[in-house]
Amino acid sequence: MTTSFSLHTLLAAALLGAAGLVMAHGNVTPQEVDTGDLPELGDEVRSQNPFREGNEYGKHNAQAVTVGESAYAGNCAGCHGIRAMSGGLTPDLRELTEWDDEYYVTRVLNGTDRGMPAWKKTLDQNAIWAIRTYVESLPKPE
Ligand code: HEC
Repeated sequence: MTTSFSLHTLLAAALLGAAGLVMAHGNVTPQEVDTGDLPELGDEVRSQNPFREGNEYGKHNAQAVTVGESAYAGNCAGCHGIRAMSGGLTPDLRELTEWDDEYYVTRVLNGTDRGMPAWKKTLDQNAIWAIRTYVESLPKPE
Protein backbone atom coordinates (compact mmCIF):
# COMPACT_ATOMS: atom_id res chain seq x y z
CA MET A 1 0.00 0.00 0.00
CA THR A 2 2.65 2.44 1.03
CA THR A 3 4.49 1.62 -2.20
CA SER A 4 1.67 2.67 -4.41
CA PHE A 5 1.18 5.76 -2.31
CA SER A 6 4.78 6.85 -2.59
CA LEU A 7 4.85 6.07 -6.32
CA HIS A 8 1.90 8.30 -6.72
CA THR A 9 3.58 11.01 -4.71
CA LEU A 10 6.74 10.62 -6.75
CA LEU A 11 4.82 10.87 -9.97
CA ALA A 12 3.02 13.97 -8.75
CA ALA A 13 6.32 15.49 -7.69
CA ALA A 14 7.87 14.69 -11.06
CA LEU A 15 4.96 16.27 -12.88
CA LEU A 16 5.12 19.34 -10.70
CA GLY A 17 8.84 19.52 -11.24
CA ALA A 18 8.40 19.36 -15.00
CA ALA A 19 5.77 22.07 -14.90
CA GLY A 20 8.09 24.17 -12.78
CA LEU A 21 10.85 23.74 -15.34
CA VAL A 22 8.65 24.73 -18.22
CA MET A 23 7.59 27.82 -16.36
CA ALA A 24 11.08 28.74 -15.32
CA HIS A 25 12.54 28.32 -18.78
CA GLY A 26 12.83 31.68 -20.43
CA ASN A 27 9.50 32.74 -19.09
CA VAL A 28 8.56 35.90 -17.31
CA THR A 29 5.27 36.39 -15.53
CA PRO A 30 3.55 39.09 -17.53
CA GLN A 31 3.06 42.31 -15.60
CA GLU A 32 -0.19 44.11 -16.06
CA VAL A 33 0.31 47.48 -17.67
CA ASP A 34 -1.65 50.54 -16.65
CA THR A 35 -1.75 52.57 -19.85
CA GLY A 36 -3.26 55.52 -18.01
CA ASP A 37 -5.10 57.97 -20.22
CA LEU A 38 -3.27 57.24 -23.44
CA PRO A 39 -5.78 57.27 -26.31
CA GLU A 40 -7.34 53.84 -26.78
CA LEU A 41 -5.85 52.24 -29.90
CA GLY A 42 -8.31 49.36 -30.14
CA ASP A 43 -7.69 45.96 -31.66
CA GLU A 44 -6.91 46.70 -35.28
CA VAL A 45 -3.16 46.29 -35.48
CA ARG A 46 -1.32 49.43 -36.57
CA SER A 47 1.72 49.26 -38.75
CA GLN A 48 3.28 52.46 -37.38
CA ASN A 49 4.00 53.69 -33.89
CA PRO A 50 1.11 56.12 -33.31
CA PHE A 51 2.92 57.77 -30.39
CA ARG A 52 5.99 58.79 -32.38
CA GLU A 53 6.42 62.57 -32.75
CA GLY A 54 4.62 63.63 -35.92
CA ASN A 55 2.33 60.59 -36.01
CA GLU A 56 -1.36 60.46 -35.10
CA TYR A 57 -0.91 60.57 -31.32
CA GLY A 58 2.56 62.09 -31.32
CA LYS A 59 1.54 64.65 -28.75
CA HIS A 60 1.23 61.81 -26.26
CA ASN A 61 4.85 60.85 -26.84
CA ALA A 62 6.15 61.78 -23.37
CA GLN A 63 3.29 60.01 -21.66
CA ALA A 64 3.85 56.92 -23.79
CA VAL A 65 7.53 56.93 -22.80
CA THR A 66 6.55 56.87 -19.12
CA VAL A 67 4.00 54.08 -19.58
CA GLY A 68 6.43 52.17 -21.80
CA GLU A 69 9.26 52.44 -19.31
CA SER A 70 7.44 50.49 -16.62
CA ALA A 71 5.81 48.11 -19.11
CA TYR A 72 9.26 47.37 -20.53
CA ALA A 73 10.81 46.90 -17.08
CA GLY A 74 8.06 44.49 -16.04
CA ASN A 75 7.85 42.43 -19.22
CA CYS A 76 10.87 42.76 -21.47
CA ALA A 77 13.92 43.77 -19.42
CA GLY A 78 14.36 40.23 -18.06
CA CYS A 79 15.47 39.09 -21.52
CA HIS A 80 16.26 42.27 -23.48
CA GLY A 81 18.20 43.97 -20.69
CA ILE A 82 17.83 47.00 -18.48
CA ARG A 83 17.20 50.07 -20.66
CA ALA A 84 17.31 47.70 -23.66
CA MET A 85 21.02 46.97 -23.28
CA SER A 86 20.72 43.35 -24.27
CA GLY A 87 24.33 42.31 -23.91
CA GLY A 88 24.06 40.27 -27.09
CA LEU A 89 21.98 37.31 -25.89
CA THR A 90 18.77 38.73 -27.32
CA PRO A 91 18.36 41.27 -30.13
CA ASP A 92 19.10 44.85 -29.10
CA LEU A 93 15.73 46.55 -29.51
CA ARG A 94 17.39 49.98 -29.84
CA GLU A 95 18.67 48.88 -33.26
CA LEU A 96 15.18 48.84 -34.76
CA THR A 97 14.38 51.91 -36.85
CA GLU A 98 11.04 53.51 -37.61
CA TRP A 99 10.89 51.37 -40.76
CA ASP A 100 10.74 48.31 -38.54
CA ASP A 101 7.40 49.16 -36.89
CA GLU A 102 5.45 46.43 -38.61
CA TYR A 103 8.14 43.88 -37.93
CA TYR A 104 8.22 44.98 -34.29
CA VAL A 105 4.50 44.70 -33.67
CA THR A 106 4.28 41.34 -35.43
CA ARG A 107 7.12 39.92 -33.36
CA VAL A 108 5.71 41.20 -30.09
CA LEU A 109 2.19 39.96 -30.79
CA ASN A 110 3.16 36.53 -32.10
CA GLY A 111 6.59 35.81 -30.67
CA THR A 112 8.96 33.43 -32.43
CA ASP A 113 9.85 29.80 -32.01
CA ARG A 114 13.34 30.82 -30.96
CA GLY A 115 12.54 32.13 -27.54
CA MET A 116 10.52 35.29 -27.97
CA PRO A 117 7.19 34.88 -26.16
CA ALA A 118 3.92 36.01 -27.78
CA TRP A 119 2.25 38.93 -26.03
CA LYS A 120 -1.10 39.20 -27.79
CA LYS A 121 -2.92 37.67 -24.85
CA THR A 122 -1.25 39.81 -22.21
CA LEU A 123 -0.44 43.22 -23.70
CA ASP A 124 -2.73 45.49 -25.63
CA GLN A 125 -1.58 47.73 -28.46
CA ASN A 126 -1.31 50.72 -26.17
CA ALA A 127 1.24 48.90 -24.05
CA ILE A 128 3.09 47.49 -27.07
CA TRP A 129 3.51 50.86 -28.78
CA ALA A 130 4.27 52.59 -25.49
CA ILE A 131 7.17 50.15 -25.02
CA ARG A 132 8.34 50.93 -28.54
CA THR A 133 8.15 54.65 -27.79
CA TYR A 134 10.16 54.18 -24.60
CA VAL A 135 12.87 52.18 -26.42
CA GLU A 136 13.03 54.89 -29.09
CA SER A 137 13.65 57.48 -26.39
CA LEU A 138 16.77 55.65 -25.23
CA PRO A 139 20.24 56.51 -26.51
CA LYS A 140 21.24 54.34 -29.48
CA PRO A 141 23.94 51.72 -28.84
CA GLU A 142 27.50 52.82 -29.61
C1 HEC B 1 11.78 35.11 -22.40
C2 HEC B 1 12.67 36.08 -22.97
C3 HEC B 1 12.05 37.25 -23.70
C4 HEC B 1 11.15 38.18 -23.23
C5 HEC B 1 10.51 38.23 -21.87
C6 HEC B 1 10.95 39.12 -24.31
N1 HEC B 1 11.70 38.78 -25.40
FE1 HEC B 1 11.73 39.72 -27.19
N2 HEC B 1 12.99 38.31 -27.92
C7 HEC B 1 13.52 37.26 -27.20
C8 HEC B 1 14.36 36.46 -28.07
C9 HEC B 1 15.15 35.22 -27.66
C10 HEC B 1 14.32 37.07 -29.34
C11 HEC B 1 14.99 36.59 -30.63
C12 HEC B 1 13.99 35.67 -31.28
C13 HEC B 1 14.38 35.14 -32.64
O1 HEC B 1 15.50 35.40 -33.11
O2 HEC B 1 13.52 34.50 -33.27
C14 HEC B 1 13.44 38.23 -29.20
C15 HEC B 1 13.13 39.08 -30.24
C16 HEC B 1 12.38 40.22 -30.12
C17 HEC B 1 12.09 41.14 -31.20
C18 HEC B 1 12.64 41.04 -32.61
C19 HEC B 1 13.89 41.91 -32.62
C20 HEC B 1 14.82 41.73 -33.78
O3 HEC B 1 15.71 42.59 -33.93
O4 HEC B 1 14.70 40.75 -34.52
C21 HEC B 1 11.33 42.14 -30.68
C22 HEC B 1 10.78 43.35 -31.43
C23 HEC B 1 11.13 41.84 -29.28
N3 HEC B 1 11.78 40.66 -28.97
C24 HEC B 1 10.42 42.64 -28.42
C25 HEC B 1 10.13 42.28 -27.09
C26 HEC B 1 9.29 43.08 -26.23
C27 HEC B 1 8.67 44.42 -26.59
C28 HEC B 1 9.19 42.40 -25.05
C29 HEC B 1 8.38 42.75 -23.82
C30 HEC B 1 6.97 42.97 -24.05
C31 HEC B 1 9.98 41.17 -25.20
N4 HEC B 1 10.54 41.16 -26.44
C32 HEC B 1 10.12 40.22 -24.21
C33 HEC B 1 13.28 36.98 -25.88
C34 HEC B 1 12.38 37.64 -25.07
